[in-house]
Amino acid sequence: MKFNALFSKEKLGDLSLPHRIVMAPLTRSRSSQPGDIPNDMNVEYYKQCSTAALIITEATQISPQGKGYAFTPGIHSKAQIQGWKKITDKVHNENGRIFMQLWHVGRVSHSSLQRGNAIPVAPSAIAVDEGQAFTYEGMKDFETPRALELNELPDIVEQYRLAAINAKQAGFDGVEIHAANGYLLDQFLKDGTNKRDDIYGGSIENRIRLVMEVIKVITDVWGGSRVGIRISPTGTFNSMSESKPQELYNHLVEKLNQFNLAYLHVVEDFANAPVNGFNFNVLRKKFNGAYMANGSYTAETAERSLKNKLSDFVAFGVPFIANPDLPKRLRLGAELNQADPTTFYGGDAKGYID
Ligand SMILES: Cc1cc2nc3c(=O)[nH]c(=O)nc-3n(C[C@H](O)[C@H](O)[C@H](O)COP(=O)(O)O)c2cc1C
Repeated sequence: MKFNALFSKEKLGDLSLPHRIVMAPLTRSRSSQPGDIPNDMNVEYYKQCSTAALIITEATQISPQGKGYAFTPGIHSKAQIQGWKKITDKVHNENGRIFMQLWHVGRVSHSSLQRGNAIPVAPSAIAVDEGQAFTYEGMKDFETPRALELNELPDIVEQYRLAAINAKQAGFDGVEIHAANGYLLDQFLKDGTNKRDDIYGGSIENRIRLVMEVIKVITDVWGGSRVGIRISPTGTFNSMSESKPQELYNHLVEKLNQFNLAYLHVVEDFANAPVNGFNFNVLRKKFNGAYMANGSYTAETAERSLKNKLSDFVAFGVPFIANPDLPKRLRLGAELNQADPTTFYGGDAKGYID
């Protein structure tokens, strides 16, 4: 099969991308301690992936409060900015492009990862009821989070604004807002986790409010053409649920159009969450920027999606882990290495840069 669509050029915001194969954000938990600082091994990792049309970095905490996993990097200190600058310089030297994924985990954390052993925060005091938190002392049960007070929400927005400024200083080409996979913004969007009775809960208009405020301050820093947003309408990872996903996400996407964002990144399939008739193409048709599809794509299914105008870009996650030169391999029709899940999170160079 020839992959003409996959290897055609396209604009993403005001960037010109050489093809359609994007590297999906992948947490690998290999940043230096103390300080959650990107290190030389991380520089080599991103360098190896720089033939992606666009690299989206691993989720990166916008603040100490936004952290939920051991060994993950941040973008809220000088040392972290300097660490990331080495990565963006290297990727740019290789003629690559790189966006940072901005992350606040909300309830998907543990007090042992928080400053002063504070209880993690969320829209409502409802605990994650599957899996465990990845802490420095091993896996621990999730705790019941503390519901954020109304007067704390401006500070959450401010955390995003400062992180967006820091990402610019670190030399990124743009940023992706992580509003997927059960983290803080997703917790506000979905009614399984948002039981608030103030202006940030209840109606769809109220539940999208925090996301809209965050996008406003980030696009003020970057301009819409350098900002993307990631959503997971049907995702159940981190024990998420939503009673009317199509209604919620149709409305969100209509509201996003005012910001002229570069792209809408949609996790269509992660951990085999049931789709239950959700129509992703409605989102694509409503959205005025590029549609980036993700989730279990192969070169063949990605080519078909692009050809049938169901997407403009396709992000690959796990395939990049074992095949940092994925675009080349797909172009040649070469065999792909299989990724080793035991090396996904934490550890050394094995399964990371070897
Ligand atoms: C090891 C690993 C780490 C991940 N880290 C992130 C992350 O930091 N941010 C995010 O939005 N999604 C993350 N994901 C989800 C992937 O971006 C992607 O949505 C998922 O793997 C499905 O795409 P794929 O079938 O091409 O791998 C992660 C997935 C894996 C396997």
